[in-house]
Amino acid sequence: MNVGKFSGSESRAADNSDKIEFSCGALTGELMEHALPRRLSMNVQDFQKMKDAGRKISMVTCYDYSSARAVADSNIDCILVGDSLAMTMHGYQTTLSATTAMMALHTAAVARGAPAKFIVADLPFLSYRKGLKDAMDAVHELMSAGAQAVKLEGVRGHADIVRHIVDSGVPVMGHLGLTPQSVHGLGGMKVQARTNAAVKVLTAEARELEEAGCFAIVLECVPTPGARRVTELLRIPTIGIGAGTHVSGQVLVYQDVLGLNPGFKPKFLRVYANTFDVIRTALNAYDSDVKSAAFPSESESYSDLQSTEQRGTKRTEHPAQNGRGSGITVASEISH
Ligand code: KIV
Repeated sequence: MNVGKFSGSESRAADNSDKIEFSCGALTGELMEHALPRRLSMNVQDFQKMKDAGRKISMVTCYDYSSARAVADSNIDCILVGDSLAMTMHGYQTTLSATTAMMALHTAAVARGAPAKFIVADLPFLSYRKGLKDAMDAVHELMSAGAQAVKLEGVRGHADIVRHIVDSGVPVMGHLGLTPQSVHGLGGMKVQARTNAAVKVLTAEARELEEAGCFAIVLECVPTPGARRVTELLRIPTIGIGAGTHVSGQVLVYQDVLGLNPGFKPKFLRVYANTFDVIRTALNAYDSDVKSAAFPSESESYSDLQSTEQRGTKRTEHPAQNGRGSGITVASEISH
């Protein structure tokens, strides 16, 4: 890998072979976190390269720091900070309750947990339908929070906004088929593009998004023939969720993949672990040990008064000392 160095405003190089290391000495703290391009395991051009090479793209949603650490440690190609977080993380009935501030907060947490993953952040409900300035303010917030790209739903009435975002240097992922922000307009969360006429509309919209500059398009709940047709007609990759196998990649919701959303069993979902059960079993074991006084044991207790005092003095630091922005306890200092 050929790694060069520069300071200032140059953007990251197009592919991994000539990545550029960014350095700007005086920036510190939060500003630094936002200003520095992260070293990524893939970039926006890799989406196209993967489709062209016939390699499937794996994507999973992620909304928080600790989950992001697990995704960071996996082979998953890229992350979507989806507005489904309004439901999975905040308990709302639909994605309509997501706000730009919410999306930015979760995007920043994910970027801290998975600094090498390519992150796409959803532009929330109506944020790109109130005019260019509002749309660009929302894009600015999500990109400043650590996203490498934004995703938005549909194209009718906002192709120009997509074009403007792309022309501003921000990669845009489209989203067609079942577009959950239009749940009321669609009359519910239903499979889309079920007739030839509807597939025609879908392909026309997909083409419009490609022409507007999108680098990829999510196809949600689209029967296999329609998703295949769009994927074959477009140059850019398609990422399916409930769209069969003839797409360029797949995306699923983290909680769904891991069995953290019991009772949610749409046809398209494959659950890879029963994490809800694992968590409940672990919590019940902990509860039982607390109540029987089996926890903590001698070895899990600080039994030596003198050494406890010596080692306990540095347990909590002032935010300014630990540089993490909070008075958190530093695990390495209390682990012995
Ligand atoms: O918000 C989300 O999680 C999504 C995926 C379902 C594609 O948009």
